[in-house]
Amino acid sequence: MATDQRLRDFFPPPPGLVESAHINNRDVLARMADQNLEGFWEEQAKEFEWFRPWTRVLDDSNPPFYQWFVGATTNIVYNCLDRHVRSWRRNKLAIIWEGENGDQRTFSYHALNREVCMFANVLRSMGVHKGDRVTIYMGRIPELPVAMLACAKIGAVHSVVYGGFSVEALHGRIEDSQSQVVITCDGGYMNGKIVELKNIVDEALKRCATVEHVIVVRRTGQPVTMESGRDYWYHELMTLPVARTASGNSRCETEEMDAEDPLFLLYTSGTTGRPKAILHTHGGYMVGVATTLKWVFDLKEEDRYWCTADPGWITGHSYIVYGPLLLGTTSFMYEGAPTYPYPNRWWSMVEKYGINILYTAPTAIRGLMRYGEAWPNRHDLSSLRLLGTVGEPINPEAWRWYYEAIGKGRCPIMDTWWQTETGMFMITPLPETPLKPGSATKPFPGIEADVVDENGNSLPAGEEGYLVLKRPWPAMLRNIYNDPDRYVSQYWSKFPGVYFTGDSARKDEDGYYWIIGRVDDVIKVSGYRLGTAEIESALVSHPAVAEAAAIGLPHDIKGNAIHAYVILRAGFEPSESLIEELRAHVAHEMGPIARPEKITIVSQLPKTRSGKIMRRVLKARAQGLPEGDLSTLEE
Ligand code: WT7
Repeated sequence: MATDQRLRDFFPPPPGLVESAHINNRDVLARMADQNLEGFWEEQAKEFEWFRPWTRVLDDSNPPFYQWFVGATTNIVYNCLDRHVRSWRRNKLAIIWEGENGDQRTFSYHALNREVCMFANVLRSMGVHKGDRVTIYMGRIPELPVAMLACAKIGAVHSVVYGGFSVEALHGRIEDSQSQVVITCDGGYMNGKIVELKNIVDEALKRCATVEHVIVVRRTGQPVTMESGRDYWYHELMTLPVARTASGNSRCETEEMDAEDPLFLLYTSGTTGRPKAILHTHGGYMVGVATTLKWVFDLKEEDRYWCTADPGWITGHSYIVYGPLLLGTTSFMYEGAPTYPYPNRWWSMVEKYGINILYTAPTAIRGLMRYGEAWPNRHDLSSLRLLGTVGEPINPEAWRWYYEAIGKGRCPIMDTWWQTETGMFMITPLPETPLKPGSATKPFPGIEADVVDENGNSLPAGEEGYLVLKRPWPAMLRNIYNDPDRYVSQYWSKFPGVYFTGDSARKDEDGYYWIIGRVDDVIKVSGYRLGTAEIESALVSHPAVAEAAAIGLPHDIKGNAIHAYVILRAGFEPSESLIEELRAHVAHEMGPIARPEKITIVSQLPKTRSGKIMRRVLKARAQGLPEGDLSTLEE
């Protein structure tokens, strides 16, 4: 009933938008791409500069190890910076940044390129070579994109760890990537407090030996320990002769990369066990990310674009750093919390900087909606022309608030479905698409999605099933770093030859997709992707805990909240203070976002006969729902 009601609501695009949009013939493009996938992407690839052209657009001879733009060489940074500084864009703003404390900095393409070149020279002088991994763990400051771009420029592979993660999460990611260099800050400002980034790095490094150098950007000025011979200040390195060429200028040669050379690793949680490093490459990723950003958000030369994500997640990689720079866009970047010092902070900056396109997450919208319309109403938001969301399904109520209170009914909402693994938008509206609140609408041209049953058979409209992708796309992950078997088993084995997303979804009669949620052990907390295994292992690392199980339960603002069940070791008594201690322990090890909402101490956990915890049973019990098939339950 509720669903039928929703399906009747169509929000047509605002008048004028479609006529002037880059793309207003989605169906034509989709048909073209269906008929000639390679030709379609080849056309888009021609927008960029390549040192050597490809001999084949797509090599699908060894699935699922697909290759794109085979034989071509380029460097994504060459297309983000080098080619712009040779054009009039050299004096265009690339990044406008505001700190939580009101600090402001701007970088033209020239200034950004200069900073990146100098830092790339510094990294080279420290012995960072093509293919080496560098871990970046920073607050949301301009040096974060600078560090990413400097790595990519010299062919090093960056692994950005979200600055909200903590010791154990950071340690595991540094160790798995075998990084020799870590780039961090003394601290970061968040919600009026300081996040002790350098201290967390120090603690993580006590647990791992591969790291030779730590480069520290000064942001807060708080006292930190600098280990002599290991730790260096960014601002000091940048004044040394090593930041410059032999002739003393600030240039740096951009490394010529094969289209399929690795660009970055990004750790994300999956079905079981430790987080996996998703591997993306220079060529295909560049083409996919730039094309989707330009078409979906209709980015024009004169736009000011703001993606509120953190560069430490895929949204930031694709649509704060690489996508906007590839298109020569002016991006706005903000350091801190949306409600600091008041709930109008975001809206005040939309007005102050004249933001035209705002891309954020449902959880942020729900969080701000709670404070009421008076806060956005204090500001002139008339510069906005398009809005976007990503990260989890958006509930129609939040959608409507975003549409009315922020977009004033003038701005379409691009609800973009995609993943760390897909690298780029996959199911998404285009400006011309009539919208239905809560639906990501249709696959991007060239993307073939489907909803299938357990046996991989296509399901009719209205039926819930597994969301799969049936054809390769240029920004797709190429592998799991150092674990090709896991790449095959995790993504390409449930339905052979087809990419399994881990999501469930259904299509409606109009062919619109409605994403329902994860069907694996991933919990989306405030849009952040966490794995039950990592949370459980953080719990079990506490001396009082014998066993633990974590599940996600619905939460008004966060979408899902973590609930954990623990069995104590002999000799420990349940108490409120112990529960508090365990919650704090998870936050310390994993990061504040992983702090369980609630921990329940139990004497046993529902398990299969082989000893696997049945989280779906815990979930059903907690919600008072039917427990389903219990034939394998041992308990
Ligand atoms: C998972 C991927 C991709 C950037 C941020 C998340 C969920 C993502 C949507 C959306 C419904 C969404 C899915 C997906 N998701 N976007 N528009 N509507 N669900 O990247 O951390 O790799 O998470 O986020 O469950 O599988 P990620």
